[in-house]
Amino acid sequence: MKLNITWLLVLSTIIIVMLFFLAAGNTLTPRVYDKEQFQASEHIVITFSHVVAELTPKGQAALRFAQLAGERTGGRVEVQVYPDSSLYKDGEEVQALQQGHVQLIAPATAKMAEYFPFLLLFDLPFLFQNYNEVHTFIDSPAGKKMLEQARAQDMLALAMWDNGFKYMIGNRPFTSPKYFKNANIRVMPSSDVLEQQFLSLGANPVPMRFSEVFDAKETSIIDGSENTASNIYSQKFHEIHNHLTITNHGYLGYIILTNQSFWMSLPEDIRLILEEILIEVTLWEREQAIKMNELDLEKIIKTPEINVNIMTEEDKLAWREALGSIYNEFKPVIGEDYLNEALSVNESQ
Ligand code: LMR
Repeated sequence: MKLNITWLLVLSTIIIVMLFFLAAGNTLTPRVYDKEQFQASEHIVITFSHVVAELTPKGQAALRFAQLAGERTGGRVEVQVYPDSSLYKDGEEVQALQQGHVQLIAPATAKMAEYFPFLLLFDLPFLFQNYNEVHTFIDSPAGKKMLEQARAQDMLALAMWDNGFKYMIGNRPFTSPKYFKNANIRVMPSSDVLEQQFLSLGANPVPMRFSEVFDAKETSIIDGSENTASNIYSQKFHEIHNHLTITNHGYLGYIILTNQSFWMSLPEDIRLILEEILIEVTLWEREQAIKMNELDLEKIIKTPEINVNIMTEEDKLAWREALGSIYNEFKPVIGEDYLNEALSVNESQ
């Protein structure tokens, strides 16, 4: 009898343990990559890594997002921002995001073309003439669809932020294609459009991480690069290369990406607050981008060593002729609908 009771106890313990694991298994099924849904009371740390200086439109927007996230969640969310490639560099950020080491990144659209080829649209030369046209496209149904489509391999796009319009900064004036002949020009990694742009102008495109451009200029590995005033000024490119050419030949913008599993593991109220903040910060960032680029352009121009080169109408025509076939070449990769929509926002037409 005693033996039977002992066996009964052992048997019921086994059954209880089995039931427990079964139940745990069921609740684990919908859970995400770290197998833990955040609890309502948990302190959530979001690591935001990017490659530019704090005093740039993106740098400022990341900090504002961090501040508002802390304030509006009553401290439940803490966003830690790592600027200037201090945590991850170009090419490392994406893996870090996918592996969950960071939860937010904001790469230039060019750098995500490998994953989302339709983003090459933003690199097409002379597609957008001003910020207004860019925003009209991004806010259009086509632009919104593009953002929704930027979701793969556990990455999820949340917003698009501006930097601005690019100039050439180099060791010679890059006014006309003749100055590009055999020049080594740095391009952002992963964009076939940017590489083709400089090949068409007669140059050798050199894909390179942002964090390596200053040294490459200093050691004469490259003769020039394209970038916005805020990036040129904050990285001090104008202190090495003394020719700034006002080309306005292309747009530089960012796609804000999160790790999808992480984002969906957030408590819903927190996720909604963060998404609302992102909408607000995106609008704020648009204004900052215009202001900061204007101010930084003035500062670069005032630098005594800098020569400012302005393109003539003839130069502009020569650029457009050299780049003539690039839209058609990349139309199939980008998607005809996206390209047509972007062309239709052109205010000068
Ligand atoms: C660059 O690599 O030139 C830019 O993408 C840097 C940035 O993020 O603005």
